[in-house]
Amino acid sequence: MNKFTPAKAAGARSVDEITGSRRLRRMRKADWSRRLVRENRLSVDDLIWPIFVVDGKNIREPIAAMPGVFRLSLDLAVKEAERAAKLGIPAIATFPNVELGLRDQTGSHILDPENVINRTTRAIKHAVPEIGIITDAALDPFTSHGHDGILRDGIIVNDETVEQITAAAVIQAAAGADIIAPSDMMDGRIGAIRDALDANGFQDVAIMSYATKFASAFYGPYREAVGTAGLLKGDKKTYYLDHANSDEALREAEQDLAEGADMLMVKPGLPYLDIIRRLKDEFRMPTFAYQVSGEYSMIRAAAANGWIDGDKVMLESLLAFKRAGCDGILTYFAPEVAEMLKG
Ligand code: PBG
Repeated sequence: MNKFTPAKAAGARSVDEITGSRRLRRMRKADWSRRLVRENRLSVDDLIWPIFVVDGKNIREPIAAMPGVFRLSLDLAVKEAERAAKLGIPAIATFPNVELGLRDQTGSHILDPENVINRTTRAIKHAVPEIGIITDAALDPFTSHGHDGILRDGIIVNDETVEQITAAAVIQAAAGADIIAPSDMMDGRIGAIRDALDANGFQDVAIMSYATKFASAFYGPYREAVGTAGLLKGDKKTYYLDHANSDEALREAEQDLAEGADMLMVKPGLPYLDIIRRLKDEFRMPTFAYQVSGEYSMIRAAAANGWIDGDKVMLESLLAFKRAGCDGILTYFAPEVAEMLKG
């Protein structure tokens, strides 16, 4: 027998005495009251949909590590953009899987105004002018080594990379991109891109800085999607943030804002909610999270095994970003969530 008697020892206080009659469960008692006091909501306006594009026609190629996500040829990407706009999704972010033969040491194909990204931007802007287009000015899908920068003697050279992505950003803006989102983490890129956009008449093109992009293992499935998985030698620790650091993330964001970033992004998302909250509190800027491929695939995989309720975990994870201070989320779940929010 347990020698400890629960409650009601002589002189034990009642719950009302303990809580001073404050009972937090009162407002949780019914659906109507929970709705009434709810602090955060997820809406379709919070969603940015990252899509993968490839050359060709009528291609809808599954990505093994990302069930439910496809590489789309331009014609189908336009159709998906139309669907997204109808659902009310504000913006799309495009990422290319470039033919291997077009990749080289410096990622020079990023400067081709006719590359698949720029053609996709033009086609979507033409067919669906009301949707925002975000393009990545990073070199990784264009280099033969899968790094985001120009590689010389084992070093990712900063300044030469900045020149290259700055030129690419102007070409992307000329194709119709509304927001340039450089994901490479080179020093000085935001200021350089801002100067170049302005000098070329693109004052209205915004910059979403991947201000705090961490060296992370959560990007695995993405690298399969854009075909850099087999190419990448080494890791990206000399340019992405050390994922042990939080003060440094603030310094990165501060620097990017000083250089002219209009919006901040934290990437990956869910394991970095503390960074989102710190950035929002510190800078009060439009703040976004990228729920990256690994986060997406983990939810999908567990759901496929019947271990979690996939829909509920998807919605809970996205609401967590809102609670942490996000204004919006880049998520591969975007169209699915938009459908659910509509229903
Ligand atoms: C690289 C880039 C990455 C992602 C988008 N652009 C990371 C990487 O490959 O190192 C990750 C996106 C995702 O995982 O969903 N510039």
